[in-house]
Amino acid sequence: MKEILVTGGLGYIGSHTVVALAEAGFRPVIIDDLSNSRREVLDGIAQITGFRPAFYAYDLRRRHQVKEVFEAHPDLAGIIHFAASKYVGESVEKPLLYYENNICSLLNLLNEALAAGVHPFIFSSSCTVYGEPEQLPVTEDMPVQPATSPYGNTKQIDEEILRDTAAVEPLRVIALRYFNPIGAHPSALIGELPVGVPQNLVPFITQTAAGLRDELKIFGNDYPTPDGTAIRDYIHVMDLAEAHVTALNRLLEGRNKENFEVFNIGTGKGSSVMEVVKTFIEETGVDLPYRITGRRPGDVTAVWADTTRARKELGWTARRTMAQALRDAWQWEKKVRNIEK
Ligand code: NAD
Ligand code: WQD
Repeated sequence: MKEILVTGGLGYIGSHTVVALAEAGFRPVIIDDLSNSRREVLDGIAQITGFRPAFYAYDLRRRHQVKEVFEAHPDLAGIIHFAASKYVGESVEKPLLYYENNICSLLNLLNEALAAGVHPFIFSSSCTVYGEPEQLPVTEDMPVQPATSPYGNTKQIDEEILRDTAAVEPLRVIALRYFNPIGAHPSALIGELPVGVPQNLVPFITQTAAGLRDELKIFGNDYPTPDGTAIRDYIHVMDLAEAHVTALNRLLEGRNKENFEVFNIGTGKGSSVMEVVKTFIEETGVDLPYRITGRRPGDVTAVWADTTRARKELGWTARRTMAQALRDAWQWEKKVRNIEK
């Protein structure tokens, strides 16, 4: 069984990917400093898969800690790098924290990976690199727009670091540009657990439905879209997790065509905020108080993925619906809050 290093493996997307990796016959090894996750996530992973991955509560900014993990696991076959700070708003307030964490962590990891001779590398990028796209759906060849936040900038810089390094080193990289991941594992044993007030739509919806928040604010209904609310491509986190396994296999089997490749990972379908809200109410039957307010600064009108490249090259397509993701997100919220209904 091949060992795969998963940084940020106790976080939202990382934990679901660890499950998908274990189910595909890999042995994940996790580094996570618990800055945005909890140790108990390991229990959920173990309950789902029957396998308890090796776990290091280490900070990737400390190079000696990264080195220690490579030394303890000399047979690592590949790396999936999730660990990063991820809040757009916070990154505007604390740019140095974001540049330091998202860039120094990558540099330490790459240096140690090359020293250890571990070359397959999957990177968590984001649709945020497209900004407000000129055409929809967005393809991977469309220009990366100047970043509107330090967070977005770190993703662009990280992609460039990886591209430049893969051009001269034996590194083989796939950058996956995620659209909007939502939902949870259908067992409700792992899911998204934001610290404090959720910034993202779906956790805000489920927390409002659970009674933790008074009402959902819908940020703007004056966008040039059919119902006036903004459009995104919401992808079930398990579909996203499985995309990592598919991308990893491409690298492990040497099927990559370039040493730095980029894929959009979305459903290819855009949904408006109002459609998400209505689907949630229909699927769960739960009351969801909401109110239209002004636009949130920095939000784009619409973005959804052209998934042709992922389908043709990776052989991967999202299989789950937004409705299913919302049901799974709600099951998870109920489990976390001990709600019976
Ligand atoms: P998350 O915060 O749930 O997971 C990231 C994990 O990394 C956390 O468990 C955190 O404790 C850990 N971590 C952070 N800095 C670390 C460090 N220096 N050393 C060790 N561990 C560290 O976030 P997520 O939603 O699972 O996102 C995973 C990745 O995907 C991130 O790189 C994020 O930028 C990217 N991404 C997320 C989204 C999204 O909407 N969730 C969209 C596009 C891209
Ligand atoms: C979705 C839609 C909001 C909350 C962010 C990052 C992006 C990527 C994914 C990391 C928008 C609306 C939201 C609320 C609302 N992350 N909304 N009320 O902004 O598309 O993307 O996460 O890479 O970089 O920017 O996701 O879930 O915050 O918002 O009306 O309380 O829901 O305005 O139209 P977003 P989101």
